[in-house]
Amino acid sequence: MAMGNIKIAPSILSADFAKMGEEAESLERCGADLIHCDVMDGVFVNNITFGIKMVEDIRRHTALPLDCHLMIVHPEKYVERFVKAGADIVTVHFEACRENLAGVLAQIRAAGAKCGAVVNPDTPAEALREVLPLCDMVLVMSVFPGFGGQKFIPEVLDKVRFLRDFAGENGLSYDVEIDGGIAPDTAKEAVKAGANVLVAGSAVFRSADRAAAIAALRG
Ligand code: DX5
Ligand code: ZN
Repeated sequence: MAMGNIKIAPSILSADFAKMGEEAESLERCGADLIHCDVMDGVFVNNITFGIKMVEDIRRHTALPLDCHLMIVHPEKYVERFVKAGADIVTVHFEACRENLAGVLAQIRAAGAKCGAVVNPDTPAEALREVLPLCDMVLVMSVFPGFGGQKFIPEVLDKVRFLRDFAGENGLSYDVEIDGGIAPDTAKEAVKAGANVLVAGSAVFRSADRAAAIAALRG
């Protein structure tokens, strides 16, 4: 995969929540391709972030696609509202949907957004086999979700390779996104394995020069 096709999706989990509009504008100016919105409910994960209204308000500050990663139980109750609020891509966890995953992906599509399935580090990629033809994106978690600033788990790269190969062998064109502990070194490994969308929270927000940090992730 050519480096030119790599998309960088900074995660606003690491932004200043009291200035989210300005943060979104800054990411757009600094060369981000997507804005990754981490929605956490305090039940699916041990942290609480923001919900539908935050997405709606950010929408007014940027033209970039909003990539909404729902770390919530019962995502089927909320996906239409996230799309209506301005989400361009909505991803839902296998662990939150289980046998209803295909149905939730179809709901997202029907509401007018791109859809994606997410797997935690301890869920095999094979769990997604049946829904892969329905996905615009597949998100491989490279940390256990809940917090920014954790260490990249290299074993998940096997899943990235599996997903990229599966797409090639089956004529599918989903994006492969990776999320957690992405910095220039791990970004390089992830791209080599076949990821083409890189989420990065602390690597962008802890840097004094966000444009340089985003450029460095592109390799
Ligand atoms: C983790 C979130 C990630 C997180 C990544 O639960 O889904 O998007 O913000 O943060 P870093 O890049 O700091 O690991
Ligand atoms: Zn995320």
